[in-house]
Amino acid sequence: MEAKKLITNITSLSGTINVPGDKSISHRAVMFGSIATGRTTVENFLPGEDCLSTISCFQKLGVRIRQEGTSVTVEGPGIEGLQEPKEILDVGNSGTTIRLLMGILAGRPFHSILAGDESIAKRPMTRVVRPLAEMGATIDGRMGGEYTPLSIKGGALKGIGYTLPVASAQVKSAILLAGLQSDGITTVVEPEKTRDHTERMIRMFGGRVEADGKSVSVEGGQKLTGTHVLVPGDISSAAFFLAAASIVPDSTVVLQNVGLNPTRTGIIDVLGMMGADMDICGQPESSSEPSGSITVKTAGLRGTVIEGGLIPRLIDEIPIIALIATQAEGRTVIKDAKELKVKETNRIDTVVTELRKLGADIEASEDGMVIHGGTPLHGGTVSSHGDHRIGMMLAIAALISKGEVYLEDSEAINVSYPTFFEHLQSLTVHD
Ligand code: S3P
Repeated sequence: MEAKKLITNITSLSGTINVPGDKSISHRAVMFGSIATGRTTVENFLPGEDCLSTISCFQKLGVRIRQEGTSVTVEGPGIEGLQEPKEILDVGNSGTTIRLLMGILAGRPFHSILAGDESIAKRPMTRVVRPLAEMGATIDGRMGGEYTPLSIKGGALKGIGYTLPVASAQVKSAILLAGLQSDGITTVVEPEKTRDHTERMIRMFGGRVEADGKSVSVEGGQKLTGTHVLVPGDISSAAFFLAAASIVPDSTVVLQNVGLNPTRTGIIDVLGMMGADMDICGQPESSSEPSGSITVKTAGLRGTVIEGGLIPRLIDEIPIIALIATQAEGRTVIKDAKELKVKETNRIDTVVTELRKLGADIEASEDGMVIHGGTPLHGGTVSSHGDHRIGMMLAIAALISKGEVYLEDSEAINVSYPTFFEHLQSLTVHD
């Protein structure tokens, strides 16, 4: 594919957008709908490639799922109704699909093979394989089970108490999904609190889960029942426009229907710390996930330090935060973020390499990056490296670059935000 010419040289951003459905919640709605009994309807589902991979995997497990745009209907057969797949379960680029699916398959008495794309083949799986094997599943894969392709033969599981070595909602969720099929109680303790969509979804489907600080427990053998899931907009997608409106002069953007789950709102806290101009209006809760609209205007920003318990609350927003920091006054330090190295790409490397091509003053550190702000950006040819969030961050960088910017591998953006360029175009004001 030819490099895409990005939008540059704009005067301001102005307008309102409805942020597409949350990726994490869309995956979970299809998964819980598939292991519950009865019909589940999903509204404002994200029809991005990652969530479509989840649908296709569950169809191969024998679940009847109909998807038309943002509407999905799942005819849940109950967890015991899942069938041995005849084909390889292809998760595409999606870490959430493979890791949560492993938790479900760990308790199923049949054989499955899981594989994905080039990026998935580099992502660590032992973090999920180890606890699931301890519970009783048989899982193997390349390099002793660290990498795909993986094979799973599930079976009778026993509940465990498990302390996560890294803060990961995917690993926590996989263990909880296996725990729902285990004998006794399963408890997961996290080093830092991560997104709690799985816990909320267990309750929405009529199950019980106990959460106490960084510890979460479920009892095995619970029956889940199909329900209606209204997916709020994805704050991780909204983040690109929160950033754009903050750094492009004379802008005002309204983002409607943004998920405001406190385990995900680290980006709002950081923008606040940096001096952004945001007005948040919460919506009355119509589902188990809070949401609201955010009005954001251009503001002079200052550098900050981002570390510790804040990191899991904004882990996917670090690429766009790095860009914001290039325009803030002073230095921004991001630490405790080693996990960035095992995302869709090594995001410490890809952020630093690509932003430097546009003239940013940014360097990698052992567990994050250091950005010296107030640096004007220039034109150039950059690459998403096949990582959707790197691609979108670079498209926002282009808005403030002096000179033309070309993006290689721009299609990667379809993983989480197929309408990204349309939305961006609709907000753009030229002279
Ligand atoms: C996700 C959890 C996070 C996040 C990913 C989605 C989820 O990954 O980066 O985009 O839906 O549970 P980790 O669990 O690896 O931190």
